[in-house]
Amino acid sequence: MPVILAIESSCDETSVAVCNNGKITANVIANQTIHENYGGVIPELASRVHQQNIVPAVQQALAIAKVNKSELNGVAFTRGPGLLGALLVGVSFAKSFALALDLPLIAVNHMQAHILAHFIDEPKPKFPFLCLTVSGGHTQIVLVKDYFDMEIVGETLDDAAGEAFDKTAKILNLPYPGGPLIDKYAKGGNPLAYKFAEPQIKDLNYSFSGFKTSILYFIRDRQKENSQFVEENLADICASVQHSIVKILLNKLKKAAKQFNINNIAIAGGVSANSGLRNALQEASVSLGWNVYIPAFEYCTDNAGMIAIAGYQKYLQGEFVEQDISPMARMNF
Ligand code: KG4
Ligand code: ZN
Repeated sequence: MPVILAIESSCDETSVAVCNNGKITANVIANQTIHENYGGVIPELASRVHQQNIVPAVQQALAIAKVNKSELNGVAFTRGPGLLGALLVGVSFAKSFALALDLPLIAVNHMQAHILAHFIDEPKPKFPFLCLTVSGGHTQIVLVKDYFDMEIVGETLDDAAGEAFDKTAKILNLPYPGGPLIDKYAKGGNPLAYKFAEPQIKDLNYSFSGFKTSILYFIRDRQKENSQFVEENLADICASVQHSIVKILLNKLKKAAKQFNINNIAIAGGVSANSGLRNALQEASVSLGWNVYIPAFEYCTDNAGMIAIAGYQKYLQGEFVEQDISPMARMNF
């Protein structure tokens, strides 16, 4: 009956969760609103706020889970990828906590954890499955053969899908992070109002940097004719941009499903909270006969619940790390 405490601090969410015998019994997420003032995450500020948040978040998670420190069996933490200074706070805390309580340490890869979030609730995907992992920093199609046997079969060559959402939002003068706002305004707009060119990239890879530039030029040109263009057409612009991004994401996912002859398809990461992407996947489940797996909203964006479930699986496999472990800003599977 292992009870695992998990720490996530890779970017701008300080999160602490408890996993009690495979069930997530607490998932505290302290958001850092300070970055809104700067239009993006400021790494130095993120580290400082993690430092302030981490002890109260741990205390809160233990209280919610009704678990005493003495009942814990292991401490899991995000080793990477992420912002180095932000990771350092979580890694240092986890190491000290484990040392003080004489508990084993479990290092978790953040991108693997996004995928393993599917093992928190039912229905759980069957191996092998394909997972489109879409976040602020990554866009990957992953062939998942087992809990920790994963292969990236396609990925972005430049910007991530989340960046395409956030940078479009910035062009439209919406606050950071703009992805959820584009989703919100898109609900009242026509997805076919404007067309944006789809990148022509080989294999199962993606590219979003040219797409972002095409939106920038489109808005600039329309504003020359009508300075109120964005304000008057915000819903249609958001709906059209979202429709295009989702189409680009789905096309490669369909190609991958065909290539690997797999119809168990999952999405993960912050952008998997997007309603357009969730709807498109549901439609594909009907038209293509896919078994689709879409995480609960709580486990889409960064959270320690996903670190806890990954940590639980590693605990069962006896995969522990020593006290000399350090964070990794870049980290492969
Ligand atoms: O996984 P995540 O929380 O952090 C990273 O590991 O990057 O992903 C954050 C990204 C941001 O780019 C944010 O704008 C995007 O996920 N996002 C969304 C939505 N919710 C979060 N993008 C589009 N629609 C949403 N509803
Ligand atoms: Zn993430």
